[in-house]
Amino acid sequence: MLQSALMNVMVKAARRAGRSLKRDLGEIENLQVSLKGPANFVSLADKRAEEMLLADLTKARPGYGFIGEEGGVRIGDDKTHTWIVDPLDGTTNFLHGIPQFAISIGLQREGTLIAGVIYNPANDELYTAERGKGAFLNDQRLRVAGRRQLGDCVIACGLPHIGRGDHELSRREMTEIQNRVAGLRRFGAASLDMAFVAAGRLDGYWERNLQPWDMAAGQIIVREAGGTVSGIEGNDDALKSGNVVCGNEYIHAELVKILKPLGK
Ligand code: IPD
Ligand code: CA
Ligand code: CA
Ligand code: CA
Repeated sequence: MLQSALMNVMVKAARRAGRSLKRDLGEIENLQVSLKGPANFVSLADKRAEEMLLADLTKARPGYGFIGEEGGVRIGDDKTHTWIVDPLDGTTNFLHGIPQFAISIGLQREGTLIAGVIYNPANDELYTAERGKGAFLNDQRLRVAGRRQLGDCVIACGLPHIGRGDHELSRREMTEIQNRVAGLRRFGAASLDMAFVAAGRLDGYWERNLQPWDMAAGQIIVREAGGTVSGIEGNDDALKSGNVVCGNEYIHAELVKILKPLGK
């Protein structure tokens, strides 16, 4: 796979921040964990990784804007391009030593996602996509799974935790989906849930109350793997609404059909 200059920048930044996360994973007790809200943890690992990503991406593309979970918004001179970055997606997993977490870097040009990288340093899985060029896991081209019957499918979701989201709605959604699928999963890192859909490991995924950095890279990676991504109502508003559903076109449509009326 020939890597573009842009992808080179993104992959190098993700790998450097990934080495930092890996070091910190070995020293969880020294990471000065604090709470941004109930069960909303942030640690030195999140902050160090974000600092590196901001430094590397800004050095390579000085004018681009940057939105990172821990640093908020930075406005660049080039108003057309914006990085959307989660330096550590799956902080709760990370702080428990569960190796399901990732760095997520999306790039938007004039409101359209044009590139994405999701990197799990724990197993060295690197997911990449550029608009029109396909999606990859390391060197391997990705394609979403082809199953068309929900009864054959493994679907993942996100679950609201203490202090966040509508727990009653979540229970209704889970019950409806659970009754129709081969398996329901909750892995705990939205970016990787989407990467798994792109890789055909999962047939579909939905979650509410996400932030743009949880799913920017995931969206382009799923789409470039031939999948469909939308808000839970079926509109192209996932980044704005924070609610996302994805899968191949058939499973995506099935999930929207079940989930949309429940949210009313
Ligand atoms: C979280 C993870 C998790 C999702 C949460 C997100 P963070 O991101 O993606 O899977 O359920 O809603 O906030 O805080 O670990 O970067
Ligand atoms: Ca967080
Ligand atoms: Ca996140
Ligand atoms: Ca995060």
